[in-house]
Amino acid sequence: MTASIPSDLDTFFVANRARIEQELFEFLRIPSVSARSEHNADTARAAQWLAGAFGTAGLKAEIIPTPGHPVVLGEWRGAGPDRPTVLVYGHYDVQPAEPLDLWTSPAFEPTVRDGRIYARGSVDDKGQLYLHVKAIEAHLRVRGRLPVNIVVLAEGEEEVGSDNLGDFVRAHRDRLRCDAVVISDSSMFAPGQPSILSSLRGLTYLQLDVEGPSSDLHSGIYGGAVVNPATALARIIATFHDANGRVAVPGFYDTVRDWDPAIRARMRALPFDDAHFLAEVGAPALNGESGYTTLERVWARPTCEINGLLSGYTGEGAKTVLPSRAMAKVSCRLVPDQEPAAIERLMQAHVDRVTPPGVRARVTHLHGGRAWRADLTGPLYDAAAQALEAAFHRAPVIVGEGGSIPVVDDFAKALGAPILLMGFGLPGENAHAPDEWMSVENFELGMRAVATLWDLL
Ligand code: BES
Ligand code: ZN
Repeated sequence: MTASIPSDLDTFFVANRARIEQELFEFLRIPSVSARSEHNADTARAAQWLAGAFGTAGLKAEIIPTPGHPVVLGEWRGAGPDRPTVLVYGHYDVQPAEPLDLWTSPAFEPTVRDGRIYARGSVDDKGQLYLHVKAIEAHLRVRGRLPVNIVVLAEGEEEVGSDNLGDFVRAHRDRLRCDAVVISDSSMFAPGQPSILSSLRGLTYLQLDVEGPSSDLHSGIYGGAVVNPATALARIIATFHDANGRVAVPGFYDTVRDWDPAIRARMRALPFDDAHFLAEVGAPALNGESGYTTLERVWARPTCEINGLLSGYTGEGAKTVLPSRAMAKVSCRLVPDQEPAAIERLMQAHVDRVTPPGVRARVTHLHGGRAWRADLTGPLYDAAAQALEAAFHRAPVIVGEGGSIPVVDDFAKALGAPILLMGFGLPGENAHAPDEWMSVENFELGMRAVATLWDLL
């Protein structure tokens, strides 16, 4: 039997559509860029704003400080102890908006074009967090109650690695105890195709500094007699992969767990088109670890990527200089059961081994988080499938994800509850890039799916 969206809640969403959109735009106008200290006041303001929105929705709101950006909690426990308790998680921080000149409309001035809301954070994750808040509001305004107890936990450090949230979850384990965790911070497989996520990759993020002479040198007077740190860095990072696209750091794959054959078969059956993917990324060709499909490469296999490089003269024209240092930002995406700290040690040992004489190399930890894989059985997933079908008129597919949400593994370990990731982003949504957008239709249908889910639980 297929469920349908409760008509009383649907009427609320229709009647309040303009107000809900205006409120979301207010949220999106706050540049809560967690990575930048000059935005700390904005990030704090976003937390305040969100706490106010929790109150409007009928939740008891509290802002709880952490050593970094605060956690905002919203609670409604009126359903009683014999009803399930759900923990909804999202993040109110966003990635930096640069390069600003590549945005069609300003990053923090939300603009609707062609059924899309363009703004930094529209899909990652303010829009997706906010649709949960409004789904709760619909229940509480229309019926005066929710069929489940709800705790909403919003953090302000997801985009910088959630360094303080694991401790927060463990310290507040009793308060966060729940029967299900629900998260919307990911994307659907295709437009109109609702999706339930079965995995996230983990992350080890490092900075690699190579130091040579004590200051930049004239490349004519000294070049040829001193090891060039830029060349040394290039040689080091060139050893990270072999010719088959595998990570060539010894021990890197030792703890990689194989995929459940049933999930792997379901993923192989998804209608994925390499040519379409290639057009989306706009590169001359696709390439990666040999022996795996594109989806497996991004969802199921670990990687090592250079995220940034810095050395020497990069301004206009030519400058004959031998740089004194070179730097790379390096991140490894991990799969179960790779431990971020263990991978960091392997990377460090490898760099020590391959660093050429004449320079010093230093590896610094930036952040890390474990991968996660779901067990997609049980009533939570059945209810989610029905709720998604009610809103989108299509049964959901099971997908994987190459990105990371570091706290998910902390939730799994500390709370022991099943975790449902149902995202409402879309391919090509430009998360972390200029012109990030969220589909207005997905916002509307996502809100309805979530509101329906609470009834079905
Ligand atoms: N929403 C993403 C995670 C994600 C990305 C889910 C793509 C589904 C598809 C999240 O906000 C994010 O970007 N996480 C960072 C984590 C990192 C900074 C520790 C990521 O994956 O780079
Ligand atoms: Zn993100």
